[in-house]
Amino acid sequence: MPYAHITGWGMSVPSKVLTNEDLSKMVDTNDEWIRDRTGIRERRIADERQSSASLGAEAAIAALKIADLLPSDLDLIICSTSTPEHIFPATACIIQDKIGASKAGAFDLSAACSGFIYGLNMGAQAIRSGSVKNVLVIGTETLSRFIDWKDRNICILFGDGAGAFVLQASEKPGGAFGAVMHSDGSGSDLLSIPAGGSRNPASELTLRTGMHFIHMDGKEVFRFATRVMAGATLEAVEKSGWKLEDLAIIVPHQANQRIIDAAARGLKLPIEKFMVNLDRYGNTSTASIPIAAVEAVQQGKLKSGDKVVFVGFGAGLTWGALAAEWTGPLEPAHHVVKPEWYPWFAPVRSFLRRAGRLIEGLIFGRKA
Ligand code: UT7
Repeated sequence: MPYAHITGWGMSVPSKVLTNEDLSKMVDTNDEWIRDRTGIRERRIADERQSSASLGAEAAIAALKIADLLPSDLDLIICSTSTPEHIFPATACIIQDKIGASKAGAFDLSAACSGFIYGLNMGAQAIRSGSVKNVLVIGTETLSRFIDWKDRNICILFGDGAGAFVLQASEKPGGAFGAVMHSDGSGSDLLSIPAGGSRNPASELTLRTGMHFIHMDGKEVFRFATRVMAGATLEAVEKSGWKLEDLAIIVPHQANQRIIDAAARGLKLPIEKFMVNLDRYGNTSTASIPIAAVEAVQQGKLKSGDKVVFVGFGAGLTWGALAAEWTGPLEPAHHVVKPEWYPWFAPVRSFLRRAGRLIEGLIFGRKA
């Protein structure tokens, strides 16, 4: 059975920074309250040209560059997002087109902030089954588009960004090991965007009552999060046949410093074992774990051969953890063509495919 190695990683965040100071001019809040209660200092906000697909595509290309893999080598793209471009088609397909991943299947995965863990596990399982070799897992969000900027309970927490991992099959032991995925739909009302789906389609009423914005019972989500983080981490470690002491680092979902502190206390581990960068990005939902992992590598906290656990929780309710041995790139392929060139050619390919469909329609008619 092949192992699923993490061989590439990348991130993309908007350049626009929104500080606590900026927010204090918009709603009744202040820097001290936000830092004390959450640990967040600033977050990134997408501009009008950026979207979940554009950020996801940039993170994907960065990850492919590290893996030295071409988009056309990909068999599967899994895009985890709670802020997709549309209800359908899948944002994964838009990214597939943007990066020119001509052979890849593509689908979206909706498990909120736990989505990247779910996606990694699904990608790894697909590799282990032998049905695919190269998988791209993306976590991308433009949460700013679903925030009521007058709601101080919500607008201080979230930010935009994307992260991506490349998973590759290899007979060499390593990569993804034990993983757990959990859910409890009885808490589905605790964190949601109530309208815009089939239950409450968009209407003048849903717009007027702000039902298309993120709604949350912060206290309940907080209590739930502090209960599940340590347990899920332990489950993934035990499933891998490891001990907590084996871990070089834990990369948790970046929601609130106090939640991460509680997980550290629950596991009786020093806080230094946890990668934290929520002070600069806020909560980027499913993108927070891959963004934190990329920065952990950049800061030398996560190296080849290290044992790591990724652990998250979120709307659904969902939670989960995945244990992995960090690999780094496999043997470099030394392609003459570079993955970063693909986004230049992909629009041409996309245009030719659209033109081909148009010409075919003109010649043969549009009847089935
Ligand atoms: O990915 C999962 C996403 N969600 C989460 O992770 C959220 C989990 N929950 C949390 O992180 C915390 O519950 C929050 C940060 C959302 C809130 O912190 P809290 O310690 O639970 O505060 P609270 O809601 O109990 O509010 C305490 C006080 C209240 O005032 P009173 O009633 O004590 O007078 C609030 O009205 O703070 C007030 N408050 C604020 N004050 C200044 C609430 N939001 C703000 C604010 N600025 N932004």
